[in-house]
Amino acid sequence: MTMPESTVKVALGDRSYDILIKPGVLREIGARLSRLGFSRQAALVTNPVTARLYAPTVKRSLSKAGFNALTVTIPDGERSKTLRSAGVILDRLAAARFERQSVLLALGGGVIGDLAGFAAAIYARGIPFIQLPTTLVAQVDSSVGGKTGVNLPVGKNLVGAFHQPRQVLIDPNTLRTLPQREWVAGLAEVIKYGVIADEQFFTYLERHISEIRRLAPEPVLRIITRSCEIKAAVVAEDEWESDRRRILNFGHTIGHALETLGGYHRLIHGEAVAIGMVQEAALACSLGLCTAEVVSRLRAVVLAAGLPADLPRVTFQQLWGAMQHDKKVALGRVYCVLPEHIGRVVILPLDEGSVRQWLTAQSLRRVSSRMSRRRRGGKT
Ligand code: NAD
Ligand code: GLY
Repeated sequence: MTMPESTVKVALGDRSYDILIKPGVLREIGARLSRLGFSRQAALVTNPVTARLYAPTVKRSLSKAGFNALTVTIPDGERSKTLRSAGVILDRLAAARFERQSVLLALGGGVIGDLAGFAAAIYARGIPFIQLPTTLVAQVDSSVGGKTGVNLPVGKNLVGAFHQPRQVLIDPNTLRTLPQREWVAGLAEVIKYGVIADEQFFTYLERHISEIRRLAPEPVLRIITRSCEIKAAVVAEDEWESDRRRILNFGHTIGHALETLGGYHRLIHGEAVAIGMVQEAALACSLGLCTAEVVSRLRAVVLAAGLPADLPRVTFQQLWGAMQHDKKVALGRVYCVLPEHIGRVVILPLDEGSVRQWLTAQSLRRVSSRMSRRRRGGKT
């Protein structure tokens, strides 16, 4: 029996490309690069984890197709997403006399994809690169759409470039080695697509979340494909994020603030986004934009996915202060993506008074439910 596969097109004129989602595709990289017409020189950028798990397969396939592959291994983790690491990659490319017909391959999660994509964007004013994403976050989000970049000590993703990959090759089998916490965190971005663009997809997630959590192949292929379709459509409409693309930031205004407040240690990105989505929906409800049912459906699916939904203890000053540092702040105003119903969102500026009022009401509700649990003799 042949394993199912799917292809999604990102329609961007002469920068268009395909996303191929196919179990086992890492074994076909060499042949696919040959078909795309690349010269025989390739660089594989990866980290020690993905190098150990998947570089041998990729390198075997490259060498079978006659490619001469250089491997650049960058230390694991967000802390490596720096200008310094980009410099390491650029030096290795220059030493190997990389040309514009050579190709760079990003094998790993979002950190490697963003970093290697950025190096490809700036080396020789741009060389082609292929995304080989190995985390769920990377497969449904970061490998698609051409946002590449690195962090600065003062903030995430502050240096970067739009540089579209030539192709995205997704092997869902790689998700089987992903730590459970990373896998579940990626589900936050999947749920996000349902809220921002597709109620039917959201309903599918509500019904199938336990099979998805068990990594059943058919639902996994389906959620990756639908997420990529939604992202591809949004990017095709607004490649440079002048307007519509901003809807992809649903959950990220509060999510990024929580990541910053936790020093990027306590919550990983997807967990922060999960809390951010539920809380931004609650905020939308308090502003009269959506019904309480939207909040309760979202909260239920987030919890069923194994993600957190509740705000950790933060004061209004802390949260509002961290929200001011977000990239989504424009002319001093904090913009937030807010649901009107499942499948449709609006982008609105937030005013300090309503956020304060909403957070105060949240805190009061939390105190009162803790007190009633205590009265019932339950644990707090
Ligand atoms: P990550 O790249 O740090 O990967 C998470 C962990 O999983 C790492 O330890 C990694 O080594 C490990 N790993 C990767 N693949 C594995 C596999 N198959 N098996 C076992 N372990 C594996 O984190 P991430 O969540 O993939 O990406 C987060 C990054 O992506 C952030 O830097 C974020 O800013 C960026 N991002 C970018 C975009 C974009 O549009 N460019 C969108 C979303 C996120
Ligand atoms: N991850 C948000 C974007 O690509 O625009």
